[in-house]
Amino acid sequence: MNVTLRGRPQPHRTVTFDRKQNAVRLIEQRLLPHEFKIVGTPDFRATAAAIADMVVRGAGAIGATAAYGLAQGALAFRGRDLKRFSVHVETVYQVLKNARPTAVDPVNAMDGVRAAMVAGATVAEQQALALAAAEEFAREDVRHCEAIGRHGAKLIRNGMRVLTHCNAGWLAFVDIGTATAPLYAAQAQGKKFHVFCDETRPRSQGATLTAWELAQQKIPHQIIADNAAGHLMQRGEIDLVIVGSDRTLGRTGEVANKIGTYTKAVLAARHKIPFYVAIPLSTIDWDLRRGFDIPIEERHEDEVLGAWGVVGGRKGKRTYIRVANPTSGARNPGFDVTPAELITGIITPVGIFKPRELWGRRRELGRAR
Ligand code: MRU
Repeated sequence: MNVTLRGRPQPHRTVTFDRKQNAVRLIEQRLLPHEFKIVGTPDFRATAAAIADMVVRGAGAIGATAAYGLAQGALAFRGRDLKRFSVHVETVYQVLKNARPTAVDPVNAMDGVRAAMVAGATVAEQQALALAAAEEFAREDVRHCEAIGRHGAKLIRNGMRVLTHCNAGWLAFVDIGTATAPLYAAQAQGKKFHVFCDETRPRSQGATLTAWELAQQKIPHQIIADNAAGHLMQRGEIDLVIVGSDRTLGRTGEVANKIGTYTKAVLAARHKIPFYVAIPLSTIDWDLRRGFDIPIEERHEDEVLGAWGVVGGRKGKRTYIRVANPTSGARNPGFDVTPAELITGIITPVGIFKPRELWGRRRELGRAR
């Protein structure tokens, strides 16, 4: 998407690969919206650290980063011994997989890369295939987001007020985003609407990232405190909810997404407001049989006990401020699971389905086996 820097719009993608340097290039998301900076990770361990520390975040973006990280690790191998090479690739895979546990996209992306590598008879061939497959994952991510926009735009009518949670925009993917794709497509069709961005504590991805994206695209929006949505729904001020997902179970239609999504789904059901989830195919987990088994990331308590901001004006330094009582601890689950019955529809690149229709549509939705 375009980012306007010093008055000039420039196209950017969240994740790219620099073949010459064998580096993954990432927008440093922890600095946004205060500073726009691109950083490179010099090796696969640094790439895994960038995922764990949330330099890059969002299911699709960490999927592409993991795919590139696997290719990066493979390309760094010196030698011709295929056995030693595959032991090395397994280490790279595990390090990247363990960086963040809830989103399934990194696993699906890396499994795709590994499946493509099998066709190579030598280390050099497998290295080339790994990078080609990672590039293809990134291109497919963009195609999926475009298709989600085409399907989802019809849900948006003139004058609507749309609620979104966390950031499922282009910063959470390679480009365009999922929950935001219908908004961008509707805007291109000339529709007028308003977006409420949940602040999304504790890391505030709604207030920092989604709000920044919408401001860049000139989409009218306001940030609301996470606790405000129920009140607005009760007063008839929200017409539609669209969120993303980190893992959607193909067998049950349950949706893991940023903590607080479940609360919004309960509220939307209570107020009979349509609640949609937008996902690329890489977000579907065809294996797990119940949402309870989805690994939920527990993050550091400091995220709940304080907040990051900038002190000293626009060019100020990013600073952590302790907010909570100094002697109290905190619990910080990063995600929750929304049951299928609370979800009106899942917007996929193939079309919009009821959550429990996914399994019946598994061929169309790309389940390999
Ligand atoms: O912890 P984050 O910022 O990676 O969480 C992101 C979200 O929960 C998004 O809503 C999610 O990834 C779905 S869209 C990619």
